[in-house]
Amino acid sequence: MSQEVYLTGITTTGTPHIGNYVGAIRPGIAASKDLQTQHFYFLADYHSLAKNEDPDKIVCSTLEIAAAWLALGLDAEHAYFYRQSDIPEILELTWILTGMTAKGLMNRAHSYKASVAANEESGNKDPDQGITMALYSYPILMAADILMFKSTKVPVGQDQKQHVEMARDIAQRFNHHYGETFVLPEAVIGENTAVLKGLDGRKMSKSYNNTIPLFADEKRLRKLIMKIKTNSLEPGEPKDTGDSTLFDIYKAFASPDETAEIANRYAEGIAWGEMKQLLFEYINDRIKPAREEYERLIADPAIVEEQLRKGAVRAREIAVPYLQQIRDAIGIRPLG
Ligand code: TRP
Repeated sequence: MSQEVYLTGITTTGTPHIGNYVGAIRPGIAASKDLQTQHFYFLADYHSLAKNEDPDKIVCSTLEIAAAWLALGLDAEHAYFYRQSDIPEILELTWILTGMTAKGLMNRAHSYKASVAANEESGNKDPDQGITMALYSYPILMAADILMFKSTKVPVGQDQKQHVEMARDIAQRFNHHYGETFVLPEAVIGENTAVLKGLDGRKMSKSYNNTIPLFADEKRLRKLIMKIKTNSLEPGEPKDTGDSTLFDIYKAFASPDETAEIANRYAEGIAWGEMKQLLFEYINDRIKPAREEYERLIADPAIVEEQLRKGAVRAREIAVPYLQQIRDAIGIRPLG
């Protein structure tokens, strides 16, 4: 069997939070320790243009996300760790794939349809109001990310599954038209990766503004944990672990034994205030060493820049010759 190639991108909008950590960063770093498989992790900075983000925010997010992965121990010698915009071949491939993408396929993208639905709901006369071509064509750029490195497995959240299927459709159509060129990718939806709830009990997400930044300083971390929503049960009253954001977060960090111990404390009626303090101390102890490294990297972005550039050089060793082959297949080639 040929070697599996894992690839996933992180859009550079926002500061890494503990939901990103348990849902993507931690499993990604753990998986990359498997030397039998290849791993590509990249910062999808061109994807952030779909929503016309503030340039300063994009650059800040790029640094923070890259520093987080490195501080948490990504082996950037084995895994390919790069910034999308450092690989111009990806954008070239995007246009090539655009020629093989049915417009109807893009019409069906959930993210585009959600934006249209939002316009219609707000009574807007133009259903495409505020929708850029970058948002509309977003799945094609994502297909190029995936196909450029012959990825076989693409770990993503449920919301991105359709995009991976679109990449597969586009690749199939290309192969049919021009001959076998692309490897067909498959989405991997993490079943045992936790989806964390945020401060208000909804899914932790930047768009809900309910996140706990992974590397918040001690004071802020404590303050945020104290804000996590609980019910009004008094100390001494038994509490349900099945409906507790505090418990879920604890569980996402702790071992099964430690989790069982806390479940006992719930049954005994631990006070919410005590549980919050305990959770704060637990997370803080575990994050501390990585946080120190993270702060060092944020203070010295040149170190991060250097890593990303090295990653891009390695990634382009694959992308450049492959793109030549693709161009050749479509009839963009030297004349003699
Ligand atoms: N669109 C993805 C997200 O928002 C990020 C992404 C960009 C990605 N390119 C990718 C994920 C390629 C997997 C593979 O989460």
